[in-house]
This record gives sequence, C-alpha cells and structure tokens, in this order.
Amino acid sequence: MSAPTDASAQPRSFAFTPENAKKAEAAVAAYPKGRQASAVLALLDLAQRQNGGWLPRAAMDAVAGFLDMPPMRVYEVATFYNMYNLEPVGRHHVEVCTNVSCWLRGSDDVLAACRNALGIGLGETSADGGFTLSETECLGACVNAPVMMIGGDYYEDLDAGTATAILAELKKGGTPRPGPQSGRRACEPAGGLTTLTGLSDGRGDARGDEPGAS
Ligand code: FES
Repeated sequence: MSAPTDASAQPRSFAFTPENAKKAEAAVAAYPKGRQASAVLALLDLAQRQNGGWLPRAAMDAVAGFLDMPPMRVYEVATFYNMYNLEPVGRHHVEVCTNVSCWLRGSDDVLAACRNALGIGLGETSADGGFTLSETECLGACVNAPVMMIGGDYYEDLDAGTATAILAELKKGGTPRPGPQSGRRACEPAGGLTTLTGLSDGRGDARGDEPGAS
C-alpha cells in the first residue's frame, strides 16, 4: 500500500507489549551477534499485528531502535514489501492474489465478487471500518489458486460464489472455514489420486519391479 497520507492517523508513540518484546528478543537471538538487523522483517510483522494490522511511523521507529538500525533502513524495508500496510486497514483485510496462477484460474471473478459484496474498490476501506480490499502478489499457494488471504488465513480454490459466501459469513460475525473451498483436501489432485494408488508389498513398485532393478 502507499505511504501514509493522513497524519492524524499516526500515533505519537509505539512500544512493544512485554509479551511481544520477548518475541522480538527471541527473533533477534536467532541470528549471530551483531546481525540483529536480520530480524527486521519479523519485528515489523510483530509490530503490525500489535497495531491492528498496519505500521505507523512510530512503530517503524521503535523497530529501528530495537535493532539499532537507522530508521531510514527500516522504512526502506517496510515500503518495499506489500505485506506491510502503511495506512490503517479494516478489521478484515481481504487480500486477493492476482498473480499469474490465480489470474489464470479466475482471480478476476473473485476480485469482482469481493468488490460487489463489500461495495468498495481496491485500496479502499468500507465506511464502517469492517473491510479493506487489496490485491496482493503470489501467496505461495498456487496449487490451490485462486486464493485470497484474510487476517492471515488462506481461502483457496475460490470462485465468485465461495468468495461471496466467505465475506457474507464475516459480515455476520462468523468464522468461515479457511482452506480449499472446493471440497478437496489440502492440495490433493482435484480429479483424485493419480499415483500411490495401491498398497506396496515392500518388494517393488506397482509393476512388480525389484528394488534397484534398472
Ligand atoms: Fe496466487 Fe501463487 S499466484 S498464490
């Protein structure tokens, strides 16, 4: 998302909660001494989660202080990756993947369904603060394309109907079931198993070859 434009939305200060400060220290401890800056992605994510899904400048400054980094280096990271939101987002941040695999599998329809269901366009937040709609880069779940992420949960194998139903459930205060919406389990082949369809007797493969035979 773009840089913040509404200065009034920016809190004057930010500090990790004691619980998150411990998590931040654990993230830093995963790297060699003197390389604490390597934890910047994890700490920005932690700060964003603590702050209702977006990163005010005060949070980025706090992360810079925690990691002994120049604030500008932290701003560079936060503005590069689109998983960081530099403006407030709604209670439900709906991020629809429009990258190649999802686009080929119908993300245009999913996005149109989200627009219709929420009455907002890309980058917009509903008037009641309930939803923000964004498009996002590949979510790493192409095998279940098209995919959208809401609050860290993946909703997969979508079409216009299932996307609309998920949003309707959220609007009612419900908790839609994440994962594939097509009925298949995880990323099993949609048309049923094509390999490993029988039990092995331990002496070879399904053709009866002996182990190690060429
Ligand atoms: Fe959408 Fe990879 S392209 S998850």
